Amino acid sequence: MGNTRERFLIANWKMHKTVGESRAFAREVVRRIKGTTLRNQLMICPTAPSLWAVGQELSGSQVSLGAQNLDLGREGAFTGATSGYLLHEAGAKWVIVGHSERRQYFAEGDDLIGQKVAQAWESHLRPIVCVGESLGEYQEARTISVITRQIEALFSKATEEALRTIIVAYEPIWAIGTGEVPQPSQANNVAALIRKILAQKIPDDADNIPVLYGGSVSPKNIHQFLNEPHIDGALVGGASLQVEELLKMADISS
Ligand code: 13P
Repeated sequence: MGNTRERFLIANWKMHKTVGESRAFAREVVRRIKGTTLRNQLMICPTAPSLWAVGQELSGSQVSLGAQNLDLGREGAFTGATSGYLLHEAGAKWVIVGHSERRQYFAEGDDLIGQKVAQAWESHLRPIVCVGESLGEYQEARTISVITRQIEALFSKATEEALRTIIVAYEPIWAIGTGEVPQPSQANNVAALIRKILAQKIPDDADNIPVLYGGSVSPKNIHQFLNEPHIDGALVGGASLQVEELLKMADISS
């Protein structure tokens, strides 16, 4: 509250929805919000095969399009890889980087994530950088050191120019898909910490970087998080798969 940071509601569909379902969903969202102004900027991040079709439906609307991951490089002999350049060409303006599921299931480390942030920027995509501690780290009261490491790791790979364009999403791993959430004030403290760490590298801009909360966000609990002064929106998985729930969350004010 009281700041001028952009506010976001980002739908991360993960590995859900066919091309047909994604297209129909996007069409329905655009139809429902026509002529209205949502309180939070709405963004949809569908699967890679649905990106183009969803982008076509969203074109000219207030909803923006993001991808869920990018690979390094531009074009080349890298079977199975999708570069930021190709995602941008397919219509994405944003890309999620370093989601805990990428860190956990695809062995992505801090170094690679820093490189991906740099690559996203070079590909004209704005990165949504995810950070968060595991349940074990949370129980051992290591949240601060984990978040500090994850944010500082970006500094060696991504330029100040690139860092100025990021959104950060604080997603405690133990809260993702579990129905468990941290106290909103705890999440707020972590968001404040993230901005403080960013200020070491981009002192004049850190205050303008949006920091979101993610992990079991729903229409029932989102207002608690958006009421916190350092939290500028939400990154939502499961509850973003239904039009009704998504639109409710996109229109919540703090
Ligand atoms: P859930 O909202 O399903 O807990 O997922 C959160 C998430 O990982 C968003 O990126």
